[in-house]
Amino acid sequence: MSPMNSIKSLKASYNKKGTIMVPFGEKLNPLNDKDFYNLKNYCEKVNKEFIKIGDAGEKNHLLVGRFMTDKKKPEVVNNKFSKKVLSILKKPKMKRFIKSIVNTNKKLFLRRVQFNQISKNCFVGYHLDVDSNPEYVAACVIQLGSKFKGGLYRVYQKKSKKFFDYAPGQGSLIISNCKYPHEVTKVKSGKRASLVFFISYNKGLNKRYS
Ligand SMILES: [Fe+2]
Repeated sequence: MSPMNSIKSLKASYNKKGTIMVPFGEKLNPLNDKDFYNLKNYCEKVNKEFIKIGDAGEKNHLLVGRFMTDKKKPEVVNNKFSKKVLSILKKPKMKRFIKSIVNTNKKLFLRRVQFNQISKNCFVGYHLDVDSNPEYVAACVIQLGSKFKGGLYRVYQKKSKKFFDYAPGQGSLIISNCKYPHEVTKVKSGKRASLVFFISYNKGLNKRYS
């Protein structure tokens, strides 16, 4: 067992590597059991669409369920679950934790919230989240299950070839700086499901189009 993460060590890792991962059940993971299982349930039930190419042109292959989109500006998707999902993600404990990791006192806004599922032999190709929106600060990923192999979250160190891998388990929370290129390696078996949300200091128009 690795030692429990402290807020200090997590902040240092985020600064150095651009990413942290907090397992479910660790004291600093802001999700409680009830919120986690509710999120998982909403993600299972929401309508999904099959996506071949991501919106920044990266190569990928996944099933997506949307709660908030960010094309021209952030918009809540009209379905039974979006508001419930958002109310959990906006809880003070979650916001406080994200703020302390990204090291800001600024107000945070959610801009895009979606369920992603990657099946066997699929992956998310190398990309930069700021290509989707230059004002994305961090991507937060809640892993919804652990019945898969492969599917590592791989974060490259700016423009070098060096990378760090994160093997997410059920309920783990990854926070990743959107200026770091990353990918999800090929899923070798099972299905890799996660809830991803992007935070920003701005809730206005997506500057990608301006
Ligand atoms: Fe990404």
